[in-house]
Amino acid sequence: MTTARLDIDLAAVEHNTSSIVEMCAARGMAVMGVTKGVFGHPDVAAAMVRGGVKSLGDSRLDNIARLRAKRIDVPVALLRAPTWSEIEAVVDLVDLSFQTELATIERIADAAASTGRVHEVVLMVDLGERREGVLPEDAGGLARRVLALPGVRLVGIGTNLTCFSGVEPSPANMTQLVDLAGRIREDTGSELSLVSAGGSSTLPLLAAGSMPAGVTEVRIGEALLLGRETVHHRIWPGTVQDAITVRAEVVEAKDKPPAPPGPRGDRAFGRAPAPSVEGGRRALVAVGRADVDVDGLTPLGEGHRIVGATSDYLVIEVTPGSDRVELGDELTFALDYGALVTATGSIGLETRIVTAKEVTA
Ligand SMILES: Cc1ncc(COP(=O)(O)O)c(C=O)c1O
Repeated sequence: MTTARLDIDLAAVEHNTSSIVEMCAARGMAVMGVTKGVFGHPDVAAAMVRGGVKSLGDSRLDNIARLRAKRIDVPVALLRAPTWSEIEAVVDLVDLSFQTELATIERIADAAASTGRVHEVVLMVDLGERREGVLPEDAGGLARRVLALPGVRLVGIGTNLTCFSGVEPSPANMTQLVDLAGRIREDTGSELSLVSAGGSSTLPLLAAGSMPAGVTEVRIGEALLLGRETVHHRIWPGTVQDAITVRAEVVEAKDKPPAPPGPRGDRAFGRAPAPSVEGGRRALVAVGRADVDVDGLTPLGEGHRIVGATSDYLVIEVTPGSDRVELGDELTFALDYGALVTATGSIGLETRIVTAKEVTA
């Protein structure tokens, strides 16, 4: 039995999505809604589709299987490079996948051809992140090899920035992507209709009107779910930040004096910042490090401050003068992406779809 909850407001996700889809459409770009932050939750995916995304993407096949179980009528892409043991499931479950290794693509081609299917492939190019991707100078050669394989169709190239090493999308690296697509088209005669950028870190560039023509798609997760771009994690205009929240109950509420002096040893979670030992109103909330990445939680209650956490308790300091917190109250927290991912996968939190509240942003 769990009492802490992850509340998802589908109307708010839809609102965030349509706001971003509109902005991208005005600049000639389609949006792929990335559902990995909510483990492919089918209701959230459906809200993104209602908000106007042209396709969905997730990093895990289990999530995509969840999505597929609820009929969703847009193409679904696998974003993470698959293991070889997943190849048949890739061909079965997804319309297109983002790939970087010829040997893997060859196996996909064999599996697809043996069932009479054609699997669509997007080649990921590493433009500086040093996460996934073929280097730009090797992309043309790889594209030629892929184009020669039956069972797969090369439909585009893409890149991912910022997630791993913080590289910002810029006119220079986006132009590099567009130019590379142009060169591959010229060399091979292929249509290469998809030029895919991502993720929410591309929004500032787009809004500034500095995205070069030729990028056809942006893959967006965090901004649709949490209403933030990811270069500086600033609030994205026209979106709300509380579409998804954690709610948990106060199980102790007391006024406590400052901690007494005396020697102190290691704490259970020694690397976490040392908690405040000042006196005042304190509330213990029934959610902890075993449930969610508490460092990514922000209390939404005015005058509430997280001063520390252990596996099962979040310790809140209540600023004097703000609303008193009492035993049995439920407190609400906004999440960052890390907290969202851990909360969604947590057995300590129940995910609930909440009744749509009015969205104003
Ligand atoms: C390949 C890929 N594209 C797009 C995204 C979406 O990024 P964001 O959540 O920053 O919008 C991710 C997310 O991790 C990703 O791995």
